[in-house]
Amino acid sequence: MSTAISPTAYNYKVVRQFAIMTVVWGILGMGLGVFIASQLVWPELNFGLPWTTFGRLRPLHTNLVIFAFGGCALFATSYYVVQRTCQTRLISDSLAAFTFWGWQAVIVGAIVTLPLGYTTTKEYAELEWPLAILLAIVWVTYGLVFFGTIVKRKTKHIYVGNWFYGAFIVVTAMLHIVNHASLPVSVFKSYSAYSGATDAMIQWWYGHNAVGFFLTTGFLGMMYYFVPKQAERPIYSYRLSIVHFWALITLYIWAGPHHLHYTALPDWAQSLGMAMSIILLAPSWGGMINGMMTLSGAWHKLRTDPILRFLVVSLAFYGMSTFEGPMMAIKTVNSLSHYTDWTIGHVHAGALGWVAMISIGALYHMIPKVFGRQQMHSIGLINTHFWLATIGTVLYIASMWVNGITQGLMWRAINDDGTLTYSFVEALQASHPGFIVRALGGAFFAAGMLFMAYNVFRTVRASNPAEAEAAAQIAVVGAH
Ligand code: HEM
Ligand code: HEM
Repeated sequence: MSTAISPTAYNYKVVRQFAIMTVVWGILGMGLGVFIASQLVWPELNFGLPWTTFGRLRPLHTNLVIFAFGGCALFATSYYVVQRTCQTRLISDSLAAFTFWGWQAVIVGAIVTLPLGYTTTKEYAELEWPLAILLAIVWVTYGLVFFGTIVKRKTKHIYVGNWFYGAFIVVTAMLHIVNHASLPVSVFKSYSAYSGATDAMIQWWYGHNAVGFFLTTGFLGMMYYFVPKQAERPIYSYRLSIVHFWALITLYIWAGPHHLHYTALPDWAQSLGMAMSIILLAPSWGGMINGMMTLSGAWHKLRTDPILRFLVVSLAFYGMSTFEGPMMAIKTVNSLSHYTDWTIGHVHAGALGWVAMISIGALYHMIPKVFGRQQMHSIGLINTHFWLATIGTVLYIASMWVNGITQGLMWRAINDDGTLTYSFVEALQASHPGFIVRALGGAFFAAGMLFMAYNVFRTVRASNPAEAEAAAQIAVVGAH
């Protein structure tokens, strides 16, 4: 065993760029979320203009929060984690820079085209073919940078967090390329290569695995690095993390048909999707428990460390949404929940509670490190952010449960003579209070992001290039 300080440095520049853009896109995407939530309360906010209507801004919201906010968080943390756990610099600075600028270009493309109404109409895959091709090129480059760095690692072992990030990168490429197969008829319009029930199946195979691999597996990679780091404890069970990995990726890919219950999809496919979704509870909870138990002996830190609180509460919401999901996948439950706000509540339990909170926690851990600071400018502000985010999430999902069950029950209520008891508008009126509470919850969450932006700004401003460069030095301890 030898202790040596390597003269080379990690590429933190690209990590810093993606980290800052995560905060910027988070504010825009969530701000837009609050805006469309307000449109559902006050329809006048559609302004009577085509490009400001709910129908066009909703997909922009989903693209901004999933691909811009979530995507930048995944790029930033995966580049940070892969370098540190492999004790080597990214394989290519220019390719890494290309992924940064290429990804931002795709997002700007989305901001321009979606409000103008250019869309494939496939949910979460709305971008028309020129942008979809750019996205595919950027993604393949990302894969090259990530796996190339793993190949040139200085460590013998590939840390489990990298397995999760790696699976997320490979599967996202596969999903995107297969689902986007289409025939362009003009620069702004293409038609899917699939039709009918096949098209629907491919779309929800994509859609569900976008959730499973983009919104879950990638963020689990984040969890496996940042939870042990922040808790200063090794992961509870390394063996469980390997079982978790294989079980999760084997099962997720089959669950897509639960989005198509009671449709033209063959019945056996629906039942298969339902069964696989129920089994998915096991690895999901295995992973959640593995993360939570990492805090054994360190629970007292929660009292003083709001970053750890973000990470642990995100795991609690992960556990909650992965319990709720399998329940909603049961056909009889889905017959009540489908098309209602219950689904929206489930989405945001995962999106705000899990995806956003784990990203925020990871960023608060990572940002000072890549800017050469000891810690964030203000721990008090992180604490304020934590409470705004937690209260905001609870208000959001509780209001959507109430709305969802109310809508489901009102839609299915029938009179003795077989006619519907309630008109659609009556169910909509009953949903109005819930819409107000949801908008309020979203405003809480988005306000928290503004505190984060200020805190990040102050942290970055206090840093100088020399400090940041010194922080990037690769300290190889006990290298072979
Ligand atoms: C301030 C926070 C947010 C607010 C106020 C908000 C609000 C909304 C609203 C009003 C909708 C449309 C619901 C409907 O059609 O009835 C929506 C949809 C959606 N949002 Fe958010 N959102 C927020 C944050 C996020 C985040 C951080 C993510 C992901 C990481 C996300 C992912 C989604 C998805 C996937 C949908 C589509 C759901 C579906 O089609 O079932 N949202 N959001
Ligand atoms: C074991 C885990 C999970 C299962 C089995 C599951 C299952 C489901 C089911 C049954 C639906 C409703 C489909 C419908 O009626 O249309 C749904 C919707 C959704 N779930 Fe999950 N879920 C899980 C975890 C998650 C997590 C962790 C997230 C977010 C990070 C998430 C995000 C979504 C989204 C975005 C939708 C809405 C899709 C759409 O219609 O646009 N799910 N999920």
